Amino acid sequence: MRPITCTTCHQADYTLRQAGSTPLLPAGFRAIGVGKGAQCMLCHNSRNGAIVWNQEDPRRYTAPHTASQSDVIMGKNSFFLDYGNNFISPHASFTGDACVTCHVRMSKTPHAFKADPLVCSRYHGPEYTAARVQSGTKTLIHELEAAIESKIMVAKDRIRNVRVWNDMAYAYVDTVTVDPATITKVELIEVAGQQGITIHFTDRRKITTQIGELRDAAGRPSFATGDPIIRAGWNFWLVEGDGSWGVHNPRFVRQVVLNSLDALK
Ligand code: HEC
Ligand code: HEC
Ligand code: HEC
Repeated sequence: MRPITCTTCHQADYTLRQAGSTPLLPAGFRAIGVGKGAQCMLCHNSRNGAIVWNQEDPRRYTAPHTASQSDVIMGKNSFFLDYGNNFISPHASFTGDACVTCHVRMSKTPHAFKADPLVCSRYHGPEYTAARVQSGTKTLIHELEAAIESKIMVAKDRIRNVRVWNDMAYAYVDTVTVDPATITKVELIEVAGQQGITIHFTDRRKITTQIGELRDAAGRPSFATGDPIIRAGWNFWLVEGDGSWGVHNPRFVRQVVLNSLDALK
């Protein structure tokens, strides 16, 4: 990756390269009327194309490229929620410069791009901190994570063959046969841009792999791409990868999570 220098964002006279609206982003939408936040959105989007919200089989196990902030603040690219243009956050449209308002202009150290968790109080009053929104949203997001993990555990008998991912080597290093009865728990993890899991065994061994690399006794994928857990998993990584725990777009994140939980029932 090229290092980010002044000229990544600035022209020679220090005006920003992008303002007002974005071109079509790699995430498959344009952000219109977002002031100087357009500059940030060029990079901070999911980069996996547009999601068709009601597609029954996405035919891939992809996780959204993290830094999904633009998708979340513009209320885009969720499964199970007919997002259209109905979930654009007021934080994108009515703060003047979206990302730049909170992360640059109202920050004590503008070029660190860190939002102060107290930034919310500037508009919503002294009682209103980021934590107000974040605590409830964290509960929701973690419920979704737990729901997906328990769905996998219920179907663990389908896990017989596992390719073993090694993060240091950034490659698969082995394929092993496992006895599903010895699986004690699974944890969601992102592996090289794909949805993955870490599987824990009774002997305390752990294996990390992409979900698409799990095979059943007949050699078929243990979880097909059309399984709701794959769409729910995309949604989980979308709202988790945003990193603001709901602050950017509380209503959208809540609805995405609730609809995902319903889809897993
Ligand atoms: C990630 C994008 C980004 C990078 C990289 C960046 N800036 Fe900025 N810079 C901004 C934003 C956003 C503003 C705020 C613009 C505003 O509030 O109108 C800004 C404001 C400024 C301003 C004030 C300009 C004005 O008209 O008020 C200066 C000067 C500046 N930056 C210099 C630099 C220098 C020097 C570097 C490299 C060391 C740099 N910037 C790197 C995004 C960036
Ligand atoms: C050229 C692409 C690019 C642009 C433009 C850009 N960013 Fe980033 N930003 C990145 C990358 C890459 C990282 C991750 C850096 C890392 O992990 O060290 C990042 C990290 C961040 C972080 C997390 C910092 C941390 O310490 O965890 C914030 C917040 C952020 N950017 C906000 C902004 C804002 C606000 C703007 C617009 C003013 C902006 N970015 C513009 C690429 C970009
Ligand atoms: C309404 C104000 C607001 C707007 C607009 C906004 N953010 Fe944030 N953002 C926050 C707050 C508050 C947090 C949480 C900070 C914390 O918990 O410390 C946050 C968190 C983040 C994080 C994760 C925390 C970190 O520093 O690594 C990133 C990255 C980020 N924002 C990028 C963006 C980008 C990119 C945009 C525009 C697409 C944007 N934000 C728009 C207020 C805002």
